[in-house]
Amino acid sequence: MGEYHVTGGKPLRGTIRPGGAKNAVLPILAATVLNGGTSVIHNCPGISDTHLTVEILRALGCRVTLDGGTITVDSSGINNHNVPIDLVKRMRSSIIFMGSMLGRFGEVTISAPGGCELGVRSIDFHIRSMRQMGAVITDEEGVLVCSASGLTGQRVTFDTPSVGATENVMLAAVLAKGETIISNAAREPEITDLQDFLVSMGANVRGAGTGRIIVNGVKKLHDVEHTIIPDRIVAGTYLTAAAITGGEIILTDIIPEHIYPIYSRLAETGCHFKDENKQIHLRAPKRLKSLDRLTTLPHPGFPTDMQPQFTALLCLSHGSCVINETIFEARNKHIEELRRMGADITLLRSSPAMLIRGVKSLTGAKVEAKDLRGGAGLILAGLAAEGTTVIQNSVHVERGYDKIEDALSLLGADIRFIS
Ligand code: EPU
Repeated sequence: MGEYHVTGGKPLRGTIRPGGAKNAVLPILAATVLNGGTSVIHNCPGISDTHLTVEILRALGCRVTLDGGTITVDSSGINNHNVPIDLVKRMRSSIIFMGSMLGRFGEVTISAPGGCELGVRSIDFHIRSMRQMGAVITDEEGVLVCSASGLTGQRVTFDTPSVGATENVMLAAVLAKGETIISNAAREPEITDLQDFLVSMGANVRGAGTGRIIVNGVKKLHDVEHTIIPDRIVAGTYLTAAAITGGEIILTDIIPEHIYPIYSRLAETGCHFKDENKQIHLRAPKRLKSLDRLTTLPHPGFPTDMQPQFTALLCLSHGSCVINETIFEARNKHIEELRRMGADITLLRSSPAMLIRGVKSLTGAKVEAKDLRGGAGLILAGLAAEGTTVIQNSVHVERGYDKIEDALSLLGADIRFIS
């Protein structure tokens, strides 16, 4: 367990390349189970969630090697169909193994992840859709015992476009009999990356990026090589860090259109942008303007994974803003910590909405990261605060940022990691 010591007041300047996307690499690693062969995956981020997913693959019997950002998985030797409970408890997204293991073996045992720091986070869509495709799932004291004698394609419709449930159904459908049509599917870029990976492996999938994904089951898959897309949330975090410090940065090797929902809102605060090819250049004014309203929505709306970083930014902007968090009802643990630094934030009766009145300065304090993006938001607040901010509980931040202290130092920030 470590902490970040951040001394604020330095405008970030320089050029940086965000790594591969966490929320793409996790389902793609789960998908390597399907081909019973070799998958070579480049541009994998060196974050703790990647390492946990590798541990799950090894526990199932895969041979996995890591070489820099390249992970090679050989899933021919899987001999265990139980996803270890302690690993599922440490990473909710391991529920994604339900679809790939059921798809290949017709069998998996996986514990049901409970609620988490972001809220209830039910998995009812996952369970309902697997049952619809023919799986029998029993809940034995929190452990889901799943079996199927051959899954069959179905029409699956989600009440809301869940990222994880869309991915789970795609994985289950790849080797199923017949056609699966997913309606009201999530449209996040990571779903398109998963589709690209599956197609390169021999699957018949189309429609990712729209609300309707169609999977026609195939009998056999083959070896695959794939490069993970850049992480739009890490990119957005660096842009916001530059904005909150009045800095100027260039992001390289990114896909600008994935970042439009973030940078269109940064542009409203007064930041200047240029994007060409795979680069974005941001120049921030001395003081940012607040936004009237910020509402988190499924892609291509403003991402919930950027809400805490924007909350920090709006705390220091001129004017007031109402933030509506519509995806995760409890994604507000950073509020109390920001208040310790002098932020003026009121949780509204219609919580999880909050009113932020911009203040002229924040003051360094000892605060605690309570979840991944909340921790990133506190680091950003520290970069702009007067004095030193200590952000405890780095373990959350390490789940999604590969050595954030090195990346920000490279841009001129005064940040140290103390273990
Ligand atoms: N939901 C249900 N039932 C379900 C599934 C979801 O009610 O069976 C609800 C959730 O409670 C939530 C909404 O649907 O209110 C959307 O949740 P979703 O399933 O889309 O989220 P997820 O798949 O669990 C992924 C990302 C999150 C990101 C969300 C939303 C991964 C590994 N995780 O989670 O990433 O916030 O989509 O975009 O892809 C993060 O990176 O910090 C992070 C939390």
